Amino acid sequence: MDYQQVLDRIAEEIARTPGRGRSADYIPALAARDPRAFGMAVAELDGTVHGVGEWREPFSAQSITKVFTLALDLAHEGDELWEHVGREPSGNPFNSLVQLEYENGIPRNPFINAGALVVTDRLHTRTGDAAGELLRLLRAESGNPDLDFDLAVAASETAHGDRNAALGHFMASYGNIDNPVPLLLDQYFRQCSVTASCADLALAATLLARHGIRADGTRLLTRSQAKQVNAVMLTCGTYDAAGDFAYRVGLPGKSGVGGGIIAVVPGRCALCVWSPGLDERGNSVAGVAALDLFTTLTGLSVF
Ligand code: DON
Repeated sequence: MDYQQVLDRIAEEIARTPGRGRSADYIPALAARDPRAFGMAVAELDGTVHGVGEWREPFSAQSITKVFTLALDLAHEGDELWEHVGREPSGNPFNSLVQLEYENGIPRNPFINAGALVVTDRLHTRTGDAAGELLRLLRAESGNPDLDFDLAVAASETAHGDRNAALGHFMASYGNIDNPVPLLLDQYFRQCSVTASCADLALAATLLARHGIRADGTRLLTRSQAKQVNAVMLTCGTYDAAGDFAYRVGLPGKSGVGGGIIAVVPGRCALCVWSPGLDERGNSVAGVAALDLFTTLTGLSVF
């Protein structure tokens, strides 16, 4: 497969597309990014990376990090996690509160904000440093020791974090959060603020394309757990657009409001695309279009 040729073709098509959505404005530090910026990378299982456009430009990973905290927590506690968070699509926006009350404080899945807060809380209880564990994993899997939190982005979210605070306190009232909510929010906002490029995140996602084997050859997840994470990405990774994403792209994928999306071709490669212009569901417009083109041009899909 000539991935470089495919990426060049995708970038040409994307450059011709007029509408690109709007950069996230509910986190002021993200609003400044140009909605038309575009980069894309493909990482092969042996660590070879191909890229086009701004594929080395760091951006805010945001909810993409939820895949890696889920992997870390599953590696620590296994199936017990699923007593505290479900694995069904929510059909609701990523920061929605509505299902939580009639489902007794158990979030639908680990990728909506409520579910991600539960995962980070449980990882923090087990490790004493959830955000630090995440950063160490991402640095190791990307081979980039310079990856870091962007504390200005985290502070910006803290200052505008009423919704996530509400989710945290509401779940705590059901006994589904162990740590003090302000501490949990600090961990969660730092986690979301990790700044990384398409190359970094595509490389990190090869963990899931290698069925749970890390870049150094050791195993983080059982093959079955890697399948589980990929399955939840496919069904829940793009929130209330997960059905449309599966239809168009046909790969497990996870988006973030920084405009990034990772996708996994199990046994083959992992991808990351970035373009800050979002649709109304919080997914990158050009990112979804580029992944749609990738599977169309290559035939690489799980279906
Ligand atoms: O908690 C938030 O709202 C953000 N830190 C992350 C949301 C996000 O990336 C949703 N993705 N599309």
